[in-house]
Amino acid sequence: MLYTLLITGVLLFLVWLLLRHLDKSYFLLAGAKRIQTIDGSPLESKVAVLPGNSIFGNNLDVLNMTPSRLFRFTRDAYAKSKGRNYVWYFLWAPMLNVTRAEDVEEIFQSTKLITKNVVYELLKPFLGEGLLISTDQKWHFRRKLLTPAFHFNVLQNFLEIFKEESLKLVQRLEQSLHIDLPLSHVIPQFTLNNVCETALGIKLDDMAEGDKYREAIHALESVMVERVCNPLLYFQPYFYFKGSYEKHVKHLKIAHDFSSHIIERKRQQFKAGAPAVDECGRKQRYAMLDTLLAAEAAGQIDHQGICDEVNTFMFEGYDTTSTCLTFTLLMLALHGNVQQRCVQELHESLAAADMELSVFDYNQLEYLECVIKESLRLFPPVPFLGRQCTEQSIVNGLILPKNAQINIHVFDIMRDPRHFPNPSSFEPERFLPQNTVERHPFAFVPFSAGQRNCIGQKFAILEMKVLLVAVLRNFKLLPVTRLEDIIMEYGIVLRSQQSVQLRLERRV
Ligand code: HEM
Repeated sequence: MLYTLLITGVLLFLVWLLLRHLDKSYFLLAGAKRIQTIDGSPLESKVAVLPGNSIFGNNLDVLNMTPSRLFRFTRDAYAKSKGRNYVWYFLWAPMLNVTRAEDVEEIFQSTKLITKNVVYELLKPFLGEGLLISTDQKWHFRRKLLTPAFHFNVLQNFLEIFKEESLKLVQRLEQSLHIDLPLSHVIPQFTLNNVCETALGIKLDDMAEGDKYREAIHALESVMVERVCNPLLYFQPYFYFKGSYEKHVKHLKIAHDFSSHIIERKRQQFKAGAPAVDECGRKQRYAMLDTLLAAEAAGQIDHQGICDEVNTFMFEGYDTTSTCLTFTLLMLALHGNVQQRCVQELHESLAAADMELSVFDYNQLEYLECVIKESLRLFPPVPFLGRQCTEQSIVNGLILPKNAQINIHVFDIMRDPRHFPNPSSFEPERFLPQNTVERHPFAFVPFSAGQRNCIGQKFAILEMKVLLVAVLRNFKLLPVTRLEDIIMEYGIVLRSQQSVQLRLERRV
């Protein structure tokens, strides 16, 4: 008996020693390898390590959260870490959360940290291996292929489409004077039309499927958000039995059928060598799809690849600009003085009518650009970005194990009071050239930075300027939604829980 007790005691002691040893490298109950420091100092001396709400690390922290609670949870984490980067431990991998411009620099400039993290897996059924998600050689090749499609000269061709769509929107707004106007009824349609016409060569308004397609994208997004808020839904079998799997499959088919059908039509035109003209006989201006079809003819990309890119550009190019325009219009309505200064700039800089303005004219609008930037700073449409380490990596004095996840919180980086004093206040003057000289180069990163920055940023700024000029020239914007009523939430892009509303009066 005594002998058995002794053996058991020794065994338990050995197990305890082993666990103690393993605990230095692994957070065993969380199921993840630990992040270490290069100089051997405690991890807490370099970053905040935020304890989870159970003994299993942070695994149960985000279970069944709503999009708005997830947003709040992340802001609370930033507050708790007191302006430092912070670490969470999840099953399989630790997650480094970066909230400082000084520390994001090394990540953006790395040529190795270009692979997206686990969150992007949820977008894969929709976007496949498109530019946003792909990595390594495939990404390098496609990025090189598509970069010229967003060259300055091509943007000049897109300008006409932006102006036509703005004119249509202004005509629609004429019918909505003096009422509380939800911007979600008009803005997303404008940006989706723009990106579809430039990327695919179709006018959504002219096609019955257009509305169905828009609905499908929204439904897909709501399923993705549901999965982000419940990590159990990352696992396919659980998603299949417990999640909105059927909704997902149904809308995925609508979205994919729609883009495939359009691509097929264009491919036939391309093969027949038919002059690229639209139904009205106008010269077509669809640089991106033309580029992809030419690459297909040269055997450099297949049908699936083209579908993935077209879906990616539509998705990335539509909700992002729509979000930014919504918040910019809201801020203009709330800040009458800023709105007045924009109108004054339009009077002073633009002599021609909207339809005659050139890219150069829009580039002249320095203050309007400051307004857009300040809105992007306060309400970044892409509030966080993800990367993962495909091998053990050294980042800012930390040793991140293979598979470690990195979250870059663009939202917090751009509200850092060290770089933007009084960070919550809307002050477009911050972006006047004389006020940006001393600022850290990575303090303002709404389009990300480095190799994987946004390929469509010039497109986006031009598109938004065209609409803002058209709206400001025709209407005075009056506030309805108050800033204090807005509840922010994480969608695939940043959202407000309630529809943002304002009132329009004709500008005399
Ligand atoms: C205000 C508008 C926009 C914002 C704030 C924005 C922001 C971003 C950000 C932050 C990224 C990096 C994402 C990541 O690393 O996960 C990105 C990538 C991307 N964006 Fe945008 N974007 C905007 C508009 C557009 C438009 C209009 C297009 C296309 C017409 C576009 C196409 C893309 C693509 C294809 C990528 C992936 C690039 C790559 O990885 O090589 N974006 N965007």
